[in-house]
Amino acid sequence: MLLNRFHVSPAGGMWFVVGILLWLFVAVVYRIYFRPETMTRMEDVPVESLFDVSGGTRAFLTKEKAEELLKQLLDADNAYTRIRLGNWSFGIDAADVAARALSSMKSRLVDVDLADIVAGRPEAEALKVMSIFSSALEGSQLRSLNLSDNALGEKGVRAFSSLLKSQKSLEKLYFMNNGISEEAAQAICELVPFSGNLRVLHFHNNMSGDGGAQALADFVRTATKVEDFQFSSTRVGVDGAIALVEALRTGKSLKRLDLRDNMYGPEGGLALAETLKLHPELQEVYLSDLGLEDEGATAVLKALAEVGSHVEVLELGGNEITEKAAPALVSCIRAMKSLRRLVLSENELKDKGAVAVSQALLEGHESLEVLDLSENMLGRIGAVAAAQTAAKKKSFKSLNLNSNYISEGGLEVLKEVLSKGATGLKVLGSLDENDEDGEDEEETGDEEEEEDDDEERECPCCIGKTRFEDLAL
Ligand SMILES: *[C@@H]1O[C@H](CO)[C@@H](O)[C@H](O)[C@H]1NC(C)=O
Ligand SMILES: *[C@@H]1O[C@H](CO)[C@@H](O)[C@H](O)[C@H]1NC(C)=O
Ligand SMILES: *[C@@H]1O[C@H](CO)[C@@H](O)[C@H](O)[C@H]1NC(C)=O
Repeated sequence: MLLNRFHVSPAGGMWFVVGILLWLFVAVVYRIYFRPETMTRMEDVPVESLFDVSGGTRAFLTKEKAEELLKQLLDADNAYTRIRLGNWSFGIDAADVAARALSSMKSRLVDVDLADIVAGRPEAEALKVMSIFSSALEGSQLRSLNLSDNALGEKGVRAFSSLLKSQKSLEKLYFMNNGISEEAAQAICELVPFSGNLRVLHFHNNMSGDGGAQALADFVRTATKVEDFQFSSTRVGVDGAIALVEALRTGKSLKRLDLRDNMYGPEGGLALAETLKLHPELQEVYLSDLGLEDEGATAVLKALAEVGSHVEVLELGGNEITEKAAPALVSCIRAMKSLRRLVLSENELKDKGAVAVSQALLEGHESLEVLDLSENMLGRIGAVAAAQTAAKKKSFKSLNLNSNYISEGGLEVLKEVLSKGATGLKVLGSLDENDEDGEDEEETGDEEEEEDDDEERECPCCIGKTRFEDLAL
C-alpha cells in the first residue's frame, strides 16, 4: 500500500516519509530524555525532590490519614529523594503505611527526617514504630538522617539498629533533644559503622554527661571531615570535655562549633584551646555557659586570635570573664575582621573590659551586626563606648546592654549617640532590667567621673574618646 501510494502520488508519499522521519525523531528524543532507568539517577531527578509534610501539629495519624498524607510517596513512580515526616505522631498502623512507601523507594532516598514522629505515644508503641521505620529503611545509603525530638534514650537508639547499622555514607546526623545517655551514646558508636564521611554531627539536650562524651569520643575521632559539630546542653564536665575536644583534633575542617551550656571549667577551656588552634576554617564559635573563667577564656581567645580570622560569630556569654581577659579579647577581636556577632553577655567585664572591646571593634569590622554586653556590671562609660562603636557600623542591627548599671544621664548620652549613628536608635535592645541607681561606685564611678558628668552630657561625642584613652589597656 505504501509503494502503491508512493507511485500513485509522489507528493503525498513525500509527506508520508517526512511524517515517519518526524515520528522517529520524536521517539529518539523521548528515549534520550525520558528513559525510565535514567529517571532514578540522581542528576535527572527534578530539583524539587523534597517530600515535606513536617508542618503538622503532632496530631495522631490513623491508618487512613497516613494513606492520604503519604499518597504521593505510595505512588511507586514518585521521584522523591528527600523526605520530611516530622511532627506527625505515628502509631503502628500509620508506621506500616509509611514503611510500605519507604521500603519501595529506599534505594534513591538520600535525606530522611524522622524528627518528632512518636509524640505522645506510650514507650512500647513508640519503640515498635521506630523499629518499623528502621527496618523499612535498612540498606538505604542516606547522606542525611534526622532522628531529633524522639526522646530516644538507649532503647530508642537500638530501635533504629537496622537502619543505623547499614549506613556507610552518612554526611549529616542529628540527635537533638533525644535524652542521649551514656548508654545511648555507646549504642550510637556501636551501631553506626562509619563516621568518616560526616560533615555535620549534632547532639543537644541532654544527660550525656562525661560518660556519654567519652563514649562518643571514638565516634568523633574518626569523623575527620566534620565541619559542623554541636554537643550542647549535654551535662559534660571536665573529663568528658577533654575527651571530646581531644577527639576533635584528628580533623582540621571545623567551620561551626557549638559546645554551649556544659561544665568545661578552666581546664576544659585549656584543652579546647589546643583543639581550636588546629581548625583554621572556623566561622561560628558558640562557647557560652561553659564556666571557662578568665584562665580558660584567655586560652581560647589566644587560640582564636591565631586561627580565627574567618570567624563571623563568637559567643562567650556566661563564662565569668572579667576585665583581666580583656587584652586577649582585644587581640582576638582584631584578628576577626569579619565578625558579625559578638556575644559576651553575663560576664564581669565592667567598664574597663567593655571599653577595650568597643575600641577593638571601632576600626574596620564593617560587618558587625550584633554586640551583646548585657549583664556585665557596666556603668555609663562602658555602655556609651559600646554605643559609639555600634553607631559607626552601617550594617549594625542589635546592641544589648540590658541588666547593667547605666545611670539616667548615661542612658541619655547612650541614646543620643545611637540616634546620630549609622543605623539609629532602633538597634538598641530592651533596657528594662537596667539599674539606674545601682552603679557600683568602687568599680566604675570614681569621683573624677562624677565631675565629668555635666560636661559630658553637653558633648556626648567627646566623652567616649577621652574615656577610651583614659581606660585603654
Ligand atoms: C509541631 O507541632 C507543634 C504543636 O502543634 C507546633 O507548636 C510546632 O510549631 C510544630 N513544628 C513544626 C516544625 O511544624
Ligand atoms: C532536625 O529536626 C529538628 C527537630 O524537628 C529540627 O529542629 C532541625 O531543624 C532538623 N534538622 C535539619 C537539618 O533539618
Ligand atoms: C533531660 O533530662 C531531664 C532529667 O534529667 C528530663 O526530665 C528531661 O525530660 C530530659 N530531656 C530530654 C529532651 O530528654
